[in-house]
Amino acid sequence: MAGTQMKRSILIVDDEASMIEFLQLLLEEEGYAVTSAGSMTEARGRLGSRSFDLILCDIMMPDGNGLDLLQEIKEADARASVIMMTAYTSTKSAIEAMRLGAYHYVSKPFDVEELKVVIQKALEKTELVDENVYLRKELEQKYGFANIIGRSRRMQEIFSLIERVAVTNSTVLLEGESGTGKELIARAVHYASQRSNRRFLSVNCGALPETLLESELFGHERGAFTGAVRDKKGLFREASGGTLLLDEIGEMAPSMQVKLLRALQEKKVRRVGGHKEEPVDVRIIAATNQNLQEQIQLGTFREDLYYRINVIPIRLPALRERRDDIPILVDHFIKKYSEELGIEPKRVSVNVMRQLEAYPWPGNVRELENVIERALALCAGDVLTTDDVPTQVLYGRSDRVTTIDLPAEGLDLEDYLENIRRQLMREALDRSRGVQTQAAELLGISFRSFRYYAKKLGLTGDVQSEDEPETVDARAAHS
Ligand SMILES: Nc1ncnc2c1ncn2[C@@H]1O[C@H](COP(=O)(O)OP(=O)(O)OP(=O)(O)O)[C@@H](O)[C@H]1O
Ligand SMILES: [Mg+2]
Repeated sequence: MAGTQMKRSILIVDDEASMIEFLQLLLEEEGYAVTSAGSMTEARGRLGSRSFDLILCDIMMPDGNGLDLLQEIKEADARASVIMMTAYTSTKSAIEAMRLGAYHYVSKPFDVEELKVVIQKALEKTELVDENVYLRKELEQKYGFANIIGRSRRMQEIFSLIERVAVTNSTVLLEGESGTGKELIARAVHYASQRSNRRFLSVNCGALPETLLESELFGHERGAFTGAVRDKKGLFREASGGTLLLDEIGEMAPSMQVKLLRALQEKKVRRVGGHKEEPVDVRIIAATNQNLQEQIQLGTFREDLYYRINVIPIRLPALRERRDDIPILVDHFIKKYSEELGIEPKRVSVNVMRQLEAYPWPGNVRELENVIERALALCAGDVLTTDDVPTQVLYGRSDRVTTIDLPAEGLDLEDYLENIRRQLMREALDRSRGVQTQAAELLGISFRSFRYYAKKLGLTGDVQSEDEPETVDARAAHS
């Protein structure tokens, strides 16, 4: 990080040459890089050409008031700490200095040891701000669009939508199955917005009992209930100027829904046990993996709240609805976890990739991510094979088997099953571009029986004519 090895820089602004001289000697001895300015104008010039870690500024200057300079510094560069100095003790200007964002206020003549401590503390604060900026940049990168993978048309549409939406303050409703990336998208919206230098906070509305959720969201006053031993700010206020993700909003208790609706409409919250409502400025993003429309029908979700949060709905597709993204997601996670494990990125065998593309992924991207992470940790060679992938991924097509109701008039079972067989074989052939050995593998049957049924069910037109040389045929026939 910048500055840990470098000398910390201090600008002294004072019209008294002896004071400058004294401070310069003192602070250079402490190992700081010191610059000075004898007037407001000179100070503005110095500040305009470079930045400082700390500014020590006199209030009474011949060409103006040091407080004006403080204000300018704070407006231009919130990172530098400023300590104001004055020859006269005036509580009024001290208060004003603090209000304008000064780190501290000292009256001359000051205690040298005390001044050193104050300066040291102020510089620590600057460092902390630097660190926050640095961490925020890292976060922005981590949650930026570059790390949200999706080339499929549906994901591309979502990206362009969030780019447009991010700059507004509109409430966003993210719907999608578990593991589809709702939180990831919520963060991306936050970090692409003007609120990105404020906090992104998130709360799982389903994880807390109602009363706790209320004080979590709106805060409480000390003594509001047993156990409320001190005031609590509440997430709405903590996320002030930033973004609050209300996760699993479909699981919020009905009476809490009323209170939330009120807060969203009024843009005001009242702490538990409090009397006055206070205005809040937060961008709300709600997320759910349930169908809220259905819940409205069932009477468990309020329709008025639904309309309030459904300003910009974004439905995240399940991974199986965007299978064309699976290979690039696999690549992405291989890179990510190889780096984490400190190993060379591995390749994926054609067969494994085919299985990954075919699996229905009930846990969506999260499940795929876990499978890749685990495979990389297990795999000894440099190619991921079926041995490295959990069996349910290889054979578990559970959710593709639809439940079938026997029609009242009955059915012809053989005919019915044959029909299913034909459909699945056709799909397998499609996916393997007509190569029968691969299609057979996808269905877990031998090449011989695949060829037998293909003839029987009239699928020969879908089969690549010159695809299977006799040797493969013979081998398959024996297995
Ligand atoms: N498009 C994507 N590109 C890269 N990684 C993704 C993508 N979508 C999801 N992920 C990753 O998958 C995991 C799950 O994502 P996330 O937590 O955002 O899902 P969610 O929809 O909030 O799930 P849940 O409903 O279970 O809370 C995370 O590790 C996330 O980084
Ligand atoms: Mg989530």
